[in-house]
Amino acid sequence: MIMYFVKRFLFLFLHTLLQFLLLRCGTSLDTITVSQPVTDGRDVLVSDGKTFALGFFSPGKSTHRYVGIWYYSAPGQAKVWVANRDKPIINRSGVLSIDVHGNLVLSVKDQSQHIWSTDIVSKSKNNISFVAQLLDSGNLILTHDDERKMALWQSFDYPTDTALPNMKLGLDRRTGLNRVLTSWKSTDDPGTGNWSYKIDSNGSPQLFLYKGKVPWWRSGHWNGEGWSGIPTLHNNRLFNISFVNNENESTTIWRALYPTLLSTLVVNESGFVERSVYTKGSDSKWLKLGAAPFDKCDIYGKCGAFGKCNEIDSGFECSCLPGLQRNASDGCVRKRGAASICRSGEGFVKVPNVKVPDTSAARVKTGLSMEACKQLCLQNCSCTAYASVDAREESGGCMNWNGELIDTRVYVDGGQNLYVRVDAVELGLYHSRKPEAGFFASKKRLAIMVVAMLVTSFLIFVFVHLVIKRQRKRKGSANQPMLFNDASSIPFQDSQKHDERRGKPDLPFFELSTVVAATDNFSPANRLGQGGFGPVYKGQLTNGQEIAVKTLSKSSSQGTEEFKNEVMLIAKLQHRNLVRLFGCSIHKEERMLIYEYMPNKSLDFFIFDEIKRQLLDWRKRFEIIVGIARGVLYLHQDSRLKIIHRDLKASNVLLDAAMTPKISDFGLARMFGDDQIEANTNRPVGTYGYMSPEYAMEGLYSTKSDVFSFGVLALEIISGKRNNHFYVGSPCLNLIGHAWDLWKESKALDIVDSSLGDEASYPAYEVLRCIQIGLLCVQEQAADRPTMLEVVFMLGNEANVPSPKKPAFINRRIIDSGQDPSSSAGAPASLNDITISELEAR
Ligand SMILES: *[C@@H]1O[C@H](CO)[C@@H](O)[C@H](O)[C@H]1NC(C)=O
Ligand SMILES: *[C@@H]1O[C@H](CO)[C@@H](O)[C@H](O)[C@H]1NC(C)=O
Ligand SMILES: *[C@@H]1O[C@H](CO)[C@@H](O)[C@H](O)[C@H]1NC(C)=O
Ligand SMILES: *[C@@H]1O[C@H](CO)[C@@H](O)[C@H](O)[C@H]1NC(C)=O
Ligand SMILES: *[C@@H]1O[C@H](CO)[C@@H](O)[C@H](O)[C@H]1NC(C)=O
Ligand SMILES: *[C@@H]1O[C@H](CO)[C@@H](O)[C@H](O)[C@H]1NC(C)=O
Ligand SMILES: *[C@@H]1O[C@H](CO)[C@@H](O)[C@H](O)[C@H]1NC(C)=O
Ligand SMILES: *[C@@H]1O[C@H](CO)[C@@H](O)[C@H](O)[C@H]1NC(C)=O
Repeated sequence: MIMYFVKRFLFLFLHTLLQFLLLRCGTSLDTITVSQPVTDGRDVLVSDGKTFALGFFSPGKSTHRYVGIWYYSAPGQAKVWVANRDKPIINRSGVLSIDVHGNLVLSVKDQSQHIWSTDIVSKSKNNISFVAQLLDSGNLILTHDDERKMALWQSFDYPTDTALPNMKLGLDRRTGLNRVLTSWKSTDDPGTGNWSYKIDSNGSPQLFLYKGKVPWWRSGHWNGEGWSGIPTLHNNRLFNISFVNNENESTTIWRALYPTLLSTLVVNESGFVERSVYTKGSDSKWLKLGAAPFDKCDIYGKCGAFGKCNEIDSGFECSCLPGLQRNASDGCVRKRGAASICRSGEGFVKVPNVKVPDTSAARVKTGLSMEACKQLCLQNCSCTAYASVDAREESGGCMNWNGELIDTRVYVDGGQNLYVRVDAVELGLYHSRKPEAGFFASKKRLAIMVVAMLVTSFLIFVFVHLVIKRQRKRKGSANQPMLFNDASSIPFQDSQKHDERRGKPDLPFFELSTVVAATDNFSPANRLGQGGFGPVYKGQLTNGQEIAVKTLSKSSSQGTEEFKNEVMLIAKLQHRNLVRLFGCSIHKEERMLIYEYMPNKSLDFFIFDEIKRQLLDWRKRFEIIVGIARGVLYLHQDSRLKIIHRDLKASNVLLDAAMTPKISDFGLARMFGDDQIEANTNRPVGTYGYMSPEYAMEGLYSTKSDVFSFGVLALEIISGKRNNHFYVGSPCLNLIGHAWDLWKESKALDIVDSSLGDEASYPAYEVLRCIQIGLLCVQEQAADRPTMLEVVFMLGNEANVPSPKKPAFINRRIIDSGQDPSSSAGAPASLNDITISELEAR
């Protein structure tokens, strides 16, 4: 009996002890309590999911100590929050603790004075029950037992230079608290710098980047889809950005659509708002998604009052809004004085595709139709313009401006309509096609019509001129791929320097004699095959390095110097999923590119071969798909050059000894340029079956054309069939069409290569996700297709793959007709896999 009690007691004692220890270990990691301060040099808090850490640090070259929060799981990113940014500690005796009043305070050992404090006034006396906890969101919150879960204070309310996902930025109207981002002074000093980013809730609220107190850039107002001045972020598939504006608050917040996506929005010391994401995997790093201000026209008020900024090739161009004209340096002045627009037959002229002027000066009225909005503006002679709050003019939100219109800019695409008040004469010019009956005397009408015709023909002339100029420019600008309206196309600054420096320091030029020796004088025995521009040879340098020599027999439009520069740039690109370009050799007209040699040839040798495809199980195929995606992502936005491949296909994906996919022939489009393509072929390079509709039909290419080709490639890898494989019973249906039909019937797994075995032998959910991503990439509208960055995230994460829309079925006949007689109906499918440039070469 006694033994029983002793045993029982011991058990209870140990149990309690264990629990106590567990509890301590479990909570001591991410919390500060009265008895558990954070001491410099000893403690670091780590959030529960190991996403964020809090501790003492010294920035850059500084020796000063600060308390900060940083991403624990993604090294290389600056501190996302700093407590004592303007009050550094000069030695390592700092302590972050909870004081008698329950405040979180930073002090120096053995000193009563606080360096920094949360400054809350607490009614509760029981300091034991105050806890500061670092959450997995990166928020440090101070709570009290009596007020469970209520944050008495949180670091998200006092941001430094960084906004994190799920963090509110902006104004709490009830307390007056405005959450503002302010840059650091320098990389060595987190002190309050000159740049700040905050919501201005006047009129229709906007986010402003200020330099000191001067507005430098504005996000534009919230148009229902996003901030009107950042069209690149609308409909993006990485974040859900939202905005709330009511009597309690005027705040914006963004959420990552992938739970594992780490991201930041930083106001940096040079006055840019930068958005970055962290890509996990073999080449983990922070990627800059974009920055604002992006171009000259983004600078606030660049063209003065009533001016309109337009981005052009050589920089920017200022013009005046309708009814106004330039007056020396004074900006724009009304052509016929202010009285001309006050009850003198005035009206409105529509200016399309603009970022509307500063809306902090606008009066906003909800529930008005566009007509009512116009009438409202017309009634008041000081009203100079009106516009809808939402870009589609559907929600019934109306904005009226009084006085000056500042910071209007024009977009090539997107933006919205601005209706500018003009006098009767101006109105006549713009509306001359249908002047209001009886308003003008017939002579006047005739005069106006003549003027209008002159103006029209002038406009047509200008238009034609512009088109010609643009085409000329297109031809000459092979080095400058067009910009597109998606987040990934924002060219970002050189984050790759580090990578690129690893390249060979010497110039990548090979003597012809070296190449001749390596390839045994281009002996037929060394011939690997026929490339798009000429034969490819295998070779071996004297140091044992195996190489592939690609001859470019076709003359390029580029001069030798340009060609060399281009090779040098492209040789610097390095990525695990790109074939390494060692350099080139130039001998008279003959040009050669020297690549690393890939023993396993190309992907098409495997996936389309009855026997060899069995070597590629699902795991391997998945890795190949992911590898290709990463390689293309690198080309699109990771490298300094921003390359659109334009001829992505199975035979351009080479495999190394470990079956790692390596994209080849990237940069060829750059070297050969549009000029030559347009001049010689008048149609795009690329390969039937992989070409997006807009590229095949209209010659328009963008990163989204590569996305399309990638989608085709992914479906081919999954199915083991070429896109040009035609299906028995439905001769017009290619692989994409077939996959789409099956997808609609929820039988998508039927396209899976039978050599992968039945559904039990591969993870069906993963295969389905890949098919879904493949279908997303081949959607008809380029804008619907995801960016490569999104593809990489979708491949690596399980959540949030949207439903695909109908893919582009390229009607084979349309393409074939009159363009390529050799592959017209009846030709074997394999013929279609020939590069157009190759056909042209004959
Ligand atoms: C650390 O610096 C503070 C002044 O900020 C000073 O009062 C304190 O004595 C110093 N502590 C040590 C250990 O040097
Ligand atoms: C907690 O509060 C008590 C009474 O107010 C005070 O004596 C004690 O020093 C406080 N503890 C800490 C760590 O501040
Ligand atoms: C901030 O602006 C002021 C005045 O223009 C200037 O003197 C100061 O050097 C600036 N500070 C930083 C960190 O750039
Ligand atoms: C984005 O967030 C808003 C507000 O939080 C929500 O209503 C909406 O459904 C979200 N959209 C997506 C695509 O998650
Ligand atoms: C504003 O806050 C009050 C009090 O918390 C609440 O009752 C009201 O619903 C809030 N208004 C909106 C629009 O959320
Ligand atoms: C700030 O951001 C811009 C745009 O991304 C970049 O060019 C610049 O180098 C950044 N400055 C610093 C100090 O990081
Ligand atoms: C142009 O500016 C000058 C000086 O400010 C002013 O005198 C003149 O009237 C202006 N011209 C027009 C057409 O407004
Ligand atoms: C016109 O608008 C201005 C600015 O909002 C206002 O001060 C003025 O009272 C308005 N005039 C009339 C007649 O409504």
